Amino acid sequence: MAHSSMQTVAKEFPVENGVGRKDRRELAKMLTQIVGSSHVLYAKIRGVHWNVVGPTFYSLHKLTEAHYEELNEAIDDMAERIRAIGFSAPTGLAEMIENSVITDQTKLIATEEMIKELVEDHEKMARLLRDGVAAAEDVEDVKTGDMLTERIGVHEEAAWMLRATIS
Ligand SMILES: [Fe+2]
Repeated sequence: MAHSSMQTVAKEFPVENGVGRKDRRELAKMLTQIVGSSHVLYAKIRGVHWNVVGPTFYSLHKLTEAHYEELNEAIDDMAERIRAIGFSAPTGLAEMIENSVITDQTKLIATEEMIKELVEDHEKMARLLRDGVAAAEDVEDVKTGDMLTERIGVHEEAAWMLRATIS
């Protein structure tokens, strides 16, 4: 009919990649939780990057920068994976927070407390990703499984580096 009704809102795509629709839908939900959590963590890491004070300022300022830059790219890859398996990616901060296992930072706390919280958050991410890998492997979505497996190591390493800085 009229060209004014052209549908440009992202909706579900038909995908024939060997993983059934119901399974892809579950994986998309799981990826949305991982993307939302990563997004909240990204914002939290930047908050630390900006507000860190004390003798470890320089190393923590640099380390958090490396962490949020890496996370930025990973968020993009994982959100695009949701599209590739047929579903729509989260949009807007409210949806990110709603789907996050990471608690948003709403007030400024001492540097050491911020770092301790980041360590816990990275470990929370590693656990969430481990569940994600298991879910992907269950339905033989090896690509999603690979992507998330890689992320586990990244968060474990970030937790170690941050912990080492304050111990
Ligand atoms: Fe900066």
